[in-house]
Amino acid sequence: MSTRVHQMERKCEFNILADNVKVQNVIDSILEHGPQEESIHVVDLDDIVKKHDIWLQQMSRVKPFYAVKCNDTQEIVQVLAKLGTGFDCASKREMEQILAMGVKPERIIFAQPAKPIESLIYAKKHEIKLMTFDGQYELHKIKQHFPEALLVLRFRYDSGKSYGTMGKKFGCDAESEAPGLLRLAKDLGLNVIGLSFHIGSAGDDWQSFMGAFEVARKTFDSAKNIGYNFTLLDIGGGFPGANCKPIDPYAKQINKAIDTYFANDSNVTFIAEPGRYYPTSAVTTITHVQSKRLVKDKDGKEIMYYYVNDGIFGTFYSAGHEKQQVYPVALNKEGPVKESAIWGPSCDPLDLIRPSVLLPDLQFGDFILFENTGGYSIVLANSFNGFPLPRLQIYVRESTWAMLQNSPIN
Ligand SMILES: Cc1ncc(COP(=O)(O)O)c(C=O)c1O
Repeated sequence: MSTRVHQMERKCEFNILADNVKVQNVIDSILEHGPQEESIHVVDLDDIVKKHDIWLQQMSRVKPFYAVKCNDTQEIVQVLAKLGTGFDCASKREMEQILAMGVKPERIIFAQPAKPIESLIYAKKHEIKLMTFDGQYELHKIKQHFPEALLVLRFRYDSGKSYGTMGKKFGCDAESEAPGLLRLAKDLGLNVIGLSFHIGSAGDDWQSFMGAFEVARKTFDSAKNIGYNFTLLDIGGGFPGANCKPIDPYAKQINKAIDTYFANDSNVTFIAEPGRYYPTSAVTTITHVQSKRLVKDKDGKEIMYYYVNDGIFGTFYSAGHEKQQVYPVALNKEGPVKESAIWGPSCDPLDLIRPSVLLPDLQFGDFILFENTGGYSIVLANSFNGFPLPRLQIYVRESTWAMLQNSPIN
């Protein structure tokens, strides 16, 4: 029997740049080579470093545990490991990836409330003690397989503005369910050290954090009656990552919430699980037009369909499934614009990147660029219909590279 070819392998190239080279210079030189079969992710690692600096400046009291699920590109997680972030891992494979870099297990939270037993056994073996839970069955499972774990009870607090309500799947009700779960944990002799929540992803909603902190405060207080003196609050993800959406209002709100509800708790550690915050703006995707068609709708209105070499089974899952807007930029093209739609390459009618946008007249091989495409893109890409995965071209500036080389991982 022949060996099966691994069809999902990512093609990846790594380059060190002089400090004065801009992303735009890199993109220009890629474009000079003309259209390629795969779309290209231009990954700027300096942007990840910059994002981390901003986080530290604005939310120094909240330690980020990067949610690996958002973009697990090795070079990205390695930069974060060197910068000293923690990691939110949801699976055994993610934990393996992070530990393999030499990151200490204390820097990992296993933030998957519904854990496969195998991964729990793995976590125990590798001393990844910190983990979330939100139900009674999970508590019994943890008691059986990892009774020394440091548990974090996830409660539900939904922003209502995000693309998908996290609370539909995870998080207990803080008022009606948390006390019972904490009593059960106590009876089982388990060590619950704090709480977590996730307001939801991509909701542009900093306001919700105040309410979530208030619920957390009340639950910290009521837990004392059950014998738990919490020392950890994990405020989840939900931070924006595009370069046009700064985290300033989030940071302000969170700092205010800490001062409002936890001013007298110097023993409480705050952590967060930012996913899209870190990699989104680091990635620009280069696509090109492979086909086009002029279509008339039922009212006779014309729309130009462009079919490009990347779609919702590649970089743009979020555009298709979460209806998140992406912003195409037609390169080096001027002239009158026309109502257009941008489709992916597959035969699936769901494979629509942008249903309506004004674009100049584009020809086969013309480039369309998408900025801010580093979050929930390459991790969700597959080779449906036989189309290749985006190719990663990863860049870092010389001085950043030297700084990272000198930063040990521990
Ligand atoms: C438990 C958990 N933490 C963190 C994240 C990251 O969220 P975001 O990318 O919105 O920051 C997610 C995303 O699904 C999640 O499920």
